[in-house]
Amino acid sequence: MKHWKRYTITAALPYANGPKHIGHLAGAYLPADIYVRYLRLKKRDVLFVCGSDEHGTAITMQAMQENTTPQAIIDKYHVLIKDSFEKLGISFDIYHRTSSQLHHETAQEFFLDFYKKGLFKEITTDQYFDDEKKVFLADRYITGTCPNCGYEHAYGDQCEHCGKSLSPSDLISPRSTLSGLAPVLRPTKHWYLPLNEYEPWLRTWLLRDHAKDWKVNVYGQCKSWIEGGLQPRAMTRDGEWGIKVPLPDAEGKVLYVWFDAPIGYISATKQWALDNNKTWELYWKDSDTRLVHFVGKDNIVFHCIIFPVMLHMHGDYIVPDNVPANEFLNLEGHKMSTSRKWSVEMHEYLQDFPDKVDELRYVLCSIAPETKDSEFTWKDYQTRVNSELVAILGNFVNRVMVLTEKYFEGKVPKAVENAEVKIFVTAQRDKISEALENFKFREALTEVMNIARYGNKLLTDKEPWKTFKENPEATGAVLYDSLQIIAGLSIVCEPFLPFTSKKLFGMLNMDAKNFSWADIGRQDLLPMGHLLGKAELLYQKVEDETIQKQIEKLHGAKSPEPLKVENKVDAAPVKTEPEFRETEPEKPEITFDEFAKLDLRVGTVLTAEKVQKADKLLKLTVDLGFEIRTVVSGIAEFFKPEDIIGQQVSVVANLAPRKIRGIESKGMILLAEDEMGVLHFVLPKELTKNGSIIR
Ligand code: 2FM
Ligand code: ZN
Repeated sequence: MKHWKRYTITAALPYANGPKHIGHLAGAYLPADIYVRYLRLKKRDVLFVCGSDEHGTAITMQAMQENTTPQAIIDKYHVLIKDSFEKLGISFDIYHRTSSQLHHETAQEFFLDFYKKGLFKEITTDQYFDDEKKVFLADRYITGTCPNCGYEHAYGDQCEHCGKSLSPSDLISPRSTLSGLAPVLRPTKHWYLPLNEYEPWLRTWLLRDHAKDWKVNVYGQCKSWIEGGLQPRAMTRDGEWGIKVPLPDAEGKVLYVWFDAPIGYISATKQWALDNNKTWELYWKDSDTRLVHFVGKDNIVFHCIIFPVMLHMHGDYIVPDNVPANEFLNLEGHKMSTSRKWSVEMHEYLQDFPDKVDELRYVLCSIAPETKDSEFTWKDYQTRVNSELVAILGNFVNRVMVLTEKYFEGKVPKAVENAEVKIFVTAQRDKISEALENFKFREALTEVMNIARYGNKLLTDKEPWKTFKENPEATGAVLYDSLQIIAGLSIVCEPFLPFTSKKLFGMLNMDAKNFSWADIGRQDLLPMGHLLGKAELLYQKVEDETIQKQIEKLHGAKSPEPLKVENKVDAAPVKTEPEFRETEPEKPEITFDEFAKLDLRVGTVLTAEKVQKADKLLKLTVDLGFEIRTVVSGIAEFFKPEDIIGQQVSVVANLAPRKIRGIESKGMILLAEDEMGVLHFVLPKELTKNGSIIR
C-alpha cells in the first residue's frame, strides 16, 4: 500500500438553501469526520475542507418562491449549517463559502485556463425561455406531460411518476413553472466540457486502476455512466446568480454550479493556507497527497467523472484516490426529505438532544448506508443507545470507576501488566485501522464496542468485588487491566465518539494531547498510583416518552414520499441540482375565467386494457354521456383493468387530444395522489349521470 505524505479530505459542500438532515450527516459528513480524526490520531498531515455551496438553480428558485434574495437565503443557512456541524463535532479545518471573492477568482481562473487552452466547445442550442419572466429556464423549471406514462406534472429532466429521464423537449405541452406559460425556444451559446474526449482516460484511471479499491456501489455507477457514452456538458448557464463567466461576450451568463462547487474545495484550501501560513499547492498538486471525496450517492458522477476530468484537463492537479460514497438513509420507512418535512434536521436534533451528540453519531455510524440504503427509526435509536452505549460501554466504565474509588481511593492500583489484555486490545486496534482504511465504518465501530464487551466480560469472570477482602491484589489486578482498557478506549473511540473520548480523558485525568493511535493497547497508559478524575455517567437511558415525542413530531409534520426502488445503477444524464428534486412548487395563481375553461365531466369506464410495452399505462374507453372517448391514463400500477370496468370517474373532457404510445388520448382522468404515492379516483360521492358537469 502506498505511503501517503498528506491527505486532503473533502466532504460535499451542502447547498446553503435549507437545513441539512441526519441523512446528509450519515451519508458524507460523519464518515469523513471519523476518517479525518483517525488520521489525525495517527499523526498524519491531514486537511479536512468543506463549506457552503451557494450558487445554483435551487437557491435562485427558492428565493423567488419565498420572495427574498439568494443572498439572504445563503447568509441564513450558511450560519445554521456551520453551527450544526460544529456542535455535532464535525471537525473541519475550514468551512468556507463559494460566495467568497477568493472562490469566485479561483473558479474563474479555472474557466479561463480551459478557455485559453481551447479545451471548451462553444455550442449554440435552442433553450426554453420564459417570455414573461425574461429568463432561460433550467430543466427543473419546466413541467409538462410525460411521453412515457402520461403523468401531467413531469419535470424537464425527469418524470417523478415513472422515473424516466427526460429532456425538456420530450415533454408534451411544456409549461414554465414560473409563469405557467408555454416557454419559447431561443438560441443561446454555452461553453461545454467535452467529456467524451476524456473517455479513454477515464477507462484507464477509473475503470482499470480503481476496479479493486473503490466501493462496488460507486464503481458500478461510474462504469454504467462511462459505458452509457459520455456527452459534452455545458459548464455555463444563463442567469444572474452565480459566478460571472469571465469573458467579454458572456453578459448574463454564469458558471454552472457543478463547475464551480468542487473548485470550492480548492478555494477553501487556499483560504485555510492563508490563515495558517501553509502552502495550498501541496494539498492539491503533490502526487504524494491522497485526495478523498466523501459524498452521498447523488453526487457520485460529479466527483468521480466530471471533477476528475476537470482536474486532469488542468494538468497540474492530483485526482481523487477514492470516493467512498454512501447510499441514502431513509427515515421510518420513507425517503428523508426536508421539503416534505419527513426528516430529522441536524439543528432540531441538537435542540431536542443538546447533550446527546455521541448518541447520534453512534447510531448513525452503526446503521450507515455504506453499501445499500439503510433506515433510521427512533425505536432503533433508543435500543442502540440503551442496550449498547448505556449497557455496554457506559456500564463498563462506570463499574470500573466506582470500584476503583471504593477499593483504591480513586488511584490506579499496583499490578503487573497483563500480556493477554495487551494482545487483545492491540489486535482490536489493528482490526479497526484496517476497517477504517477501507472505509468500513460500521465494522470499525463494532470492533470498538467489542473492546468494551471484553472489559465487561473480564469483570464478570473475575468478580473483583468478591476478591477484595481475601485477596486485594487480585482485585487490584483486574481494575488495573480494566483501567488500561478504558484508557485505550478513550483514544480508540475518539474518531467515532469525540465527546465521550473527552469525558473519558477527564475521568482518567489523562491529557489527550500526549497520546496517539499507536498507544492503543499499551498496558501502562495510566501509571500505578495515578489519581483518577471525577467519575460521571457517560450516557443516560433514552426513555419511551422521548421517543414517542419524536415519532409524534414526525407524523404531525408528515407528507412522506414513498420509497422508490433505489440502488439501481442509473445511466441517466447528469442531473443538475439534486436537492431541488424535493421541491414541488406551487402553481401560479389562475383567474376564475381560466378555471372556467376546464370542461370537467363525470364518466364511466366501459373498457380497460394494458398498453403494450408500457407498464404504467391503461387504455380506457369512457362513456361521457354525449360521447364515448379513448383515454390513456398512467394508472396501471394501481388498478387492474378488470377491476375498473364500470368505475365512475371525473374527466377533463376538453383537454387537447394527444398521442401516447401511438394511441390518441382525448381527455384526462382526475386522480388524487396520497402521501404514499398511491392514486385514487376523484369522483362524485353519489352515482351521477354520465356527462354531468363538475364545477
Ligand atoms: O448535492 C449537494 O448538496 C451539492 N451542493 C454538493 C456539492 S459537492 C461539491 F462539488 F462541492
Ligand atoms: Zn412518466
